[in-house]
Amino acid sequence: MNTNFVIAIDGYSSCGKSTLAKALAKNLNFIYVDSGSMYRAVTLYFLRNKVDIQDQQQVENALKDIHLNFNSRDYETHIILNNEEVSAEIRQMPVSKNVSAVSAIKQVRHEMVKQQQRMGKSKNIVMDGRDIGTAVFKNAQLKLFMTADPKIRAERRYKELIEKGEDITLHEIFENIANRDYQDTTRTESPLVRAGDAVILDNTNLTPEQQLNFALDKVNALRKQA
Ligand code: DC
Repeated sequence: MNTNFVIAIDGYSSCGKSTLAKALAKNLNFIYVDSGSMYRAVTLYFLRNKVDIQDQQQVENALKDIHLNFNSRDYETHIILNNEEVSAEIRQMPVSKNVSAVSAIKQVRHEMVKQQQRMGKSKNIVMDGRDIGTAVFKNAQLKLFMTADPKIRAERRYKELIEKGEDITLHEIFENIANRDYQDTTRTESPLVRAGDAVILDNTNLTPEQQLNFALDKVNALRKQA
């Protein structure tokens, strides 16, 4: 049997989805795709080009000018927006503050989902995001839904950004995470919701290694059944 194996990881912001997804991809030699980075790159383009997100025509025209690619030289996300690597800039606050509004736009979602589905066709892939198990790969062999205490999530992200030299407060990060949780779960288009067949992984008290082992056990059990 040579059907490809798809692992869909969804969950709240700053839950460690990408840490787990990268570790899984590395361990299993799968392709890793960070779908959030695509929404972030679109947001960066909209901000730079002052696209009015209320104006459907402007949004559609902008989407035609946006070409996204991944450089997969390692298991980190290297996202290329129209020939420019923007991996660092998309993690900064201006993008984080606007990405939920941009990712709520129907045309943006349709375009991203189409591209994501193309990437997962006939390849073993781990993709993380908000709608991977519910919209992008409804038939994924393994679906994980990640969650963790919001305070712990904010502290983890704060540490990460401070290490990168960002000038930011813990409060700002907590607010941003709470805001994005709210917007992501209440939007009309593909809101963040657990797929009925997704396994919940609350990692508030779990180390990255424990999370990896949890997920690998699931993969191994599924592969034995196949
Ligand atoms: O995973 P992240 O925090 O980098 O994602 C940034 C934003 O993109 C997040 O607030 C919601 C949106 N997103 C989405 O709507 N659907 C996805 N599949 C991935 C991300």
